[in-house]
Amino acid sequence: MTPDSTLPLSLQLKQQTAHKHEQMHRLMERAEPFSSRAQYARFVAAQYVFQRDVEALFALREIQTAIPDLETRGRVSAARNDLRDLDFVIPEMPLAEHITMPAALGWLYVSEGSTLGAAFLLKEVKKKLALSESFGARNLAAYPEGRAIVWQRFTRYLDEARLDEQGKAAEVIAGAHAAFNRFDNLLRHFFQLA
Ligand code: HEM
Repeated sequence: MTPDSTLPLSLQLKQQTAHKHEQMHRLMERAEPFSSRAQYARFVAAQYVFQRDVEALFALREIQTAIPDLETRGRVSAARNDLRDLDFVIPEMPLAEHITMPAALGWLYVSEGSTLGAAFLLKEVKKKLALSESFGARNLAAYPEGRAIVWQRFTRYLDEARLDEQGKAAEVIAGAHAAFNRFDNLLRHFFQLA
């Protein structure tokens, strides 16, 4: 589908990545991350490596300008602590290759959006694996201000970033696709799925 440049960027992103999100659901179903703590730890490993990629982007000055509340975002240390709780070796993998603005905003979109879906995942790990926001499932916890508020502020920043020219919005969308692909590859790697 061609992006509709009359829509706010956050909605273009939602529309243009809906199929990637759907694919992610199918992959998660295959991975069965809630069948045991050992399986779930593989998901956290993917989350850790992905969040490391995302937090590396916080150093970009243009990202700091576009998203001025970065200090409230990011889940690397939560994921690292969860891996320790779960006795899983902290993975050492190279960072995703050089990512620049405006594609970097697409990576942040995927990371921040995944905190919304994480509400569902948190419920599952609590029920099935007896983990919590303070042991093993810190990476799925809501931000202290609440998921919806922090998400709405993020989409407002995105929509105010003045990237409405077609070329720039397309680069952000390409960044979001790359981020979904990265998470997809990491899940396949840690769960040894083809
Ligand atoms: C099986 C696992 C997942 C489930 C069940 C799930 C579920 C959901 C749900 C219900 C929402 C909408 C929440 C709301 O509007 O309040 C959402 C949003 C989102 N999720 Fe997921 N999600 C999953 C995995 C992921 C992963 C792994 C990623 C990225 C790596 C991701 C990226 C996103 C994004 C970007 C949004 C925001 C869409 C938008 O409104 O623009 N999700 N997810």
